Amino acid sequence: MKKETHISYEYFNNKGELNDIEKKLFAKAKEARENAYAPYSHFLVGCSVLLENGEIYTGNNQENAAYPSGLCAERTALFWIGANFPSEKIKKIFIVGGPKEFSEKNPPIPPCGSCRQSIIEYETKQNENIELYFSNLNDEVVKVHSIKDLLPFYFDGTFL
Ligand code: THU
Repeated sequence: MKKETHISYEYFNNKGELNDIEKKLFAKAKEARENAYAPYSHFLVGCSVLLENGEIYTGNNQENAAYPSGLCAERTALFWIGANFPSEKIKKIFIVGGPKEFSEKNPPIPPCGSCRQSIIEYETKQNENIELYFSNLNDEVVKVHSIKDLLPFYFDGTFL
């Protein structure tokens, strides 16, 4: 039996289409990207996270000479939040990425598979979806309602 799944997403092609909080998250993620430590890939990613209490925290990718020891921007931010505000719900995540020498051709950067898995963990933990935005430096933004849209057939703790 053949079955199908589909995802829906929003696409914005200029920052003017975003609301105030989205604009703020975009600016914060962009700012965080500037501090990424990426001497090996020269690919800079920044991430901002909005909590239910209105606070915004950020992260960026942190690389290492032993490559697998590095960490993506999303998990740098999320693990810090998980460690410091374990009871605070996560409402939105905004990712801005691209090569250090950014060109107009660079598309919005979606989260890698490991980050998708980690974000799903927090959605399951809080039993509420997290809105996710990813972007380039050219004000093109993709928004999904839940990370689950980017990881069909996800695995989480409910299977254990
Ligand atoms: N990177 C992130 O920070 N987030 C992602 O979701 C994609 C990849 C980082 C990891 C590495 O430092 C660099 O981008 C190139 O892969």
